[in-house]
Amino acid sequence: MNLADAGHDVMIVDNLSRRKIDIDLGVESLTPIATIGDRLKAWEQVGGKRIEFVLLDIAKEYDRLLALLRSEKPDAVVHFAEQRAAPYSMKSSATKRYTVDNNVNGTHNLLAAIVESGLDIHIVHLGTMGVYGYGSHRGATIPEGYLTVEVPQADGSRFTERILHPTDPGSVYHMTKTLDQLLFFYYNKNDSIRITDLHQGIVWGTNTRLTEKDPRLTNRFDYDGDYGTVLNRFLMQAAIGYPLTVHGTGGQTRAFIHIRDSVRCVQLALDNPPTSGEKVKIFNQMTESHRVADLAEKVAALTGAETNYQANPRKEAIDNDLIVDNRCFLELGLKPTTLDDGLLSEVVDVARRWADRCDRSRIPCLSAWTTRQAEAIAARP
Ligand SMILES: NC(=O)c1ccc[n+]([C@@H]2O[C@H](COP(=O)([O-])OP(=O)(O)OC[C@H]3O[C@@H](n4cnc5c(N)ncnc54)[C@H](O)[C@@H]3O)[C@@H](O)[C@H]2O)c1
Repeated sequence: MNLADAGHDVMIVDNLSRRKIDIDLGVESLTPIATIGDRLKAWEQVGGKRIEFVLLDIAKEYDRLLALLRSEKPDAVVHFAEQRAAPYSMKSSATKRYTVDNNVNGTHNLLAAIVESGLDIHIVHLGTMGVYGYGSHRGATIPEGYLTVEVPQADGSRFTERILHPTDPGSVYHMTKTLDQLLFFYYNKNDSIRITDLHQGIVWGTNTRLTEKDPRLTNRFDYDGDYGTVLNRFLMQAAIGYPLTVHGTGGQTRAFIHIRDSVRCVQLALDNPPTSGEKVKIFNQMTESHRVADLAEKVAALTGAETNYQANPRKEAIDNDLIVDNRCFLELGLKPTTLDDGLLSEVVDVARRWADRCDRSRIPCLSAWTTRQAEAIAARP
């Protein structure tokens, strides 16, 4: 909607798999989500430029994807189409395999189809900060995608090289995003595909200026243990009087971005494409980093919520540092929305409004990374 509002001709290509996963899991977004047909109609009724929709599985329907690119000749493809939850990806071998098949094939099909089409299409991909890993960075600032390293030679001399920052995925989902990164590296080198890879932090917030125009345009608000992201979950838990579920010590540090900034960044990336022959552009799409325990404290101070420290379902470092360079978007004009801008209470208000749709039994995160974490979860009081 943001892009259509800015005058672009927009077509959504989606297989609606996210809605099917809701049905399989027996859980729903806290905010009621209209059918895709009603959403498109609502957008036109509020005066938005018409958005087209094509039901297509990019991981499985290669020929249709290629035909679509050939007929539409897009200037750019914004690639969101992946299974996006780490806990869901770790639920079972079936969800691990689905996440790899879907995400890696989808990205590869898109790249191969662009090459076969012969068109010069800029890909803007939504990746994750998780590709860098959440282990110790020993106080180093995480650069935007590339690291300059010195390589020692046998004769004692050294040369410098700019390499992709080493990856350290913490889940099968994150692993697929690191594989995407390598696919982009290869297709950019071999076929000169122009690519911007956005290493995005955890999105928080629910509404943008445009989703607020009509209730049928509202965004998903996932609160369940599989799809809910940490800050939105805390805000929703506070809204319904459920103790905030901090996993482990809460020393985990993560990067965050408000949904309004996320859509702005996609627009900035599209408006500033790589030039022909330029390496993959990598932007760290985040605006601030916080320890999970500090977030819980902030939400508790705002709402009076209690905090419940629980066995961590993830196999991960007890705590980690996360200092991130995000200069690219700031230099392009992004004005970050921060946690202190008053929008935390807006999310609590949204959650309170839909509190009766919450199934409290779906709040705990029960997807364990290994049997060791599963045992710890089972022993929770
Ligand atoms: N939400 C976050 O906090 C966050 C953080 C970092 C990165 N991201 C990335 O941003 C992107 C969008 O995330 P989101 O939160 O809007 O997720 P989402 O699940 O709401 O959106 C992804 C969409 O892709 C579709 N899809 C999945 N596989 C497909 C396929 N094979 N063919 C066609 N469509 C397919 C789904 O139906 C869904 O509508 C994802 O790639 C995600 O990994 C999200």
